[in-house]
Amino acid sequence: MNNQLNNVNEESMEMKTFFENLESKMREYRFLSDNPVVKRIKAGKGSKQFLVETVNDYAGLVVFIVPFLAKAQYSLKKFPEIVKELKQNISEERGAKTQGITHHDLLNRGLLLEKEITICKNDWTNETLEFLYGIDEAMHEQKKNPSFVAGMIYALEDSATPELAIIVTQLLSAIQSDSTAHAEISLKDFVQMHTEDFEPGHRDRFAEAVAGYLGSGALSQKEFTAGFITIMDMMEVWWQELAQSQS
Ligand SMILES: [Fe+2]
Ligand SMILES: [Fe+2]
Repeated sequence: MNNQLNNVNEESMEMKTFFENLESKMREYRFLSDNPVVKRIKAGKGSKQFLVETVNDYAGLVVFIVPFLAKAQYSLKKFPEIVKELKQNISEERGAKTQGITHHDLLNRGLLLEKEITICKNDWTNETLEFLYGIDEAMHEQKKNPSFVAGMIYALEDSATPELAIIVTQLLSAIQSDSTAHAEISLKDFVQMHTEDFEPGHRDRFAEAVAGYLGSGALSQKEFTAGFITIMDMMEVWWQELAQSQS
């Protein structure tokens, strides 16, 4: 019994270190440590058109996260606890905790009322289309590799909190508007709900759901890490390219 307990403790310590290592890898990426879009804004080179285009492109990721989560269920179908978490995540994105209003719609309404920006749901720059299709393609190529796909999803959820806190917050505050209107959930509250509740929840619950499988070897840590890095590399290129827009 004691031996069994020791094994469980060793395994959870190993997992703690595993996720901490991923976290420090992520923090080294420039899109988080020294984001090029934020740098451009701070240098006073963020024209209104650039800011609007960038926030519109970011909204693309808010749209696409749901199909990414849905597709991951196929790859992870043999892991019921993970599928359960993916479903819960999707239901939150679709408004389960926000009076039935999807997160994407909340963001759109906030931008429209507070910033007078209309989000174009399917009109993204080529850089963003390349990014979104890139993720989709990798998920498709790796669809029979549950460990890799799980690593991709974890990367999307893990990066969501700092991405919102560092980049989106600065982006939104740089967009000037004379509007005094507010959506039922303001942009500030939208960001706060995500950085304090939704996104850390998605990250931690997903980590919890995969930890046992990664610890026992049912999922490969090496492949999971490879999926994680694939997403981080794509994000790095994406933010770099967004910052170079001619707008
Ligand atoms: Fe969300
Ligand atoms: Fe999320």
